[in-house]
Amino acid sequence: MKENIVLIGYMGSGKSTVGFRLARKMKYRFVDTDQTIEKEQKTSISSIFAEKGEEYFRNLETQTIEQMAKKVNHSIVSTGGGLPMREVNGKILKELGFVVFLRVKKETILKRLSGDTSRPLLQGDNVEEKVQSMLEFRNPIYEYTAHLIVDVDDKSFDEIMDEIIRNYELMTKKDDGKKQ
Ligand code: S3P
Repeated sequence: MKENIVLIGYMGSGKSTVGFRLARKMKYRFVDTDQTIEKEQKTSISSIFAEKGEEYFRNLETQTIEQMAKKVNHSIVSTGGGLPMREVNGKILKELGFVVFLRVKKETILKRLSGDTSRPLLQGDNVEEKVQSMLEFRNPIYEYTAHLIVDVDDKSFDEIMDEIIRNYELMTKKDDGKKQ
């Protein structure tokens, strides 16, 4: 397995914030699929959804993660919330590194994302129902894709990072044992 930690989870689970801090702590690089797409397309995720549609965005996600699988190492990779939903992406993520699912409750998401206008899938009415039904659909897929699940709701960033690093080191040691 490559020496990367890949963060997956629903919008508002803290992938980017945890990922950025983790990278600093571990002296790894930080990469983010949404930021990479925005940079390459020279526009925002919202504009891509509005002008080209969701399917177009999902294809960009697959291309981005394929590219990362070829060249990224010693990095923390933060992923868009919907990225693991495509089966092919799930496989690539597992090849890319140690996959950590930041699991978050609906109540926490609603608190964190109230008033957010940057996420096209959470605009309009009935946001609570949207989040509820998306979580029901997505959580089993995140769980299936992950090597480690971390419940984030009541934990500090330091607690979340320690849990990830401890398990990552255990896994790296196990991998070394296999090689000898
Ligand atoms: C999405 C999550 C967003 C972004 C896009 C779609 C999703 O990323 O990729 O708005 O389908 O869950 P974050 O999880 O970083 O908010």
